[in-house]
Amino acid sequence: MSDHRAGIGWDVHRIAAGRPLILGGVPIASDFGLEGHSDADVLAHAITDAILGAACLGDIGMHFPDTDPVWKDADSMKLLRHASELARRAGFEISHVDSTVILERPKLKEYRLPIRQRLADCLSIEVDRVSVKFKTAEQVGPVGEGRAAEAQAVVTLRGGG
Ligand code: C5P
Ligand code: MG
Repeated sequence: MSDHRAGIGWDVHRIAAGRPLILGGVPIASDFGLEGHSDADVLAHAITDAILGAACLGDIGMHFPDTDPVWKDADSMKLLRHASELARRAGFEISHVDSTVILERPKLKEYRLPIRQRLADCLSIEVDRVSVKFKTAEQVGPVGEGRAAEAQAVVTLRGGG
């Protein structure tokens, strides 16, 4: 029997000097990056949680604890791929990913297609099933004041029957 599931994901990382800024596996030219145990790819983390949520498979910290040295500076795209494989093993296919990165600067729109393509390749789906949007926080709050970056994602799965 065909089934459709939606999952939501959210993540935030602090901005820090001397760290890379990686979004959806794509290095972004920037004079600052994001703090974290892994490579701090806030977008990959939000999508990973959305996949796990849609498949009722827990959350990112359950599968990849940040106390585990194995995941120190880990490539978050590997975590994302692993989550997609867990969902497939549970009988689901990824129908669609929608996402938003909220970051005051730099401008990200030139990176939209490379990020969509990299995410699609990682998830083994077509690029027209992956949407990535960008927003500022209008200079308000921790994101708007340039102290953090945030990402949100909704993933739709089909199958599971
Ligand atoms: O946040 P705001 O509504 O001002 O964003 C307007 C547009 O600027 C967004 O739709 C997005 O295309 C772009 N943008 C961007 N990089 C950011 C934030 C926004 O390219 N860091
Ligand atoms: Mg994270």
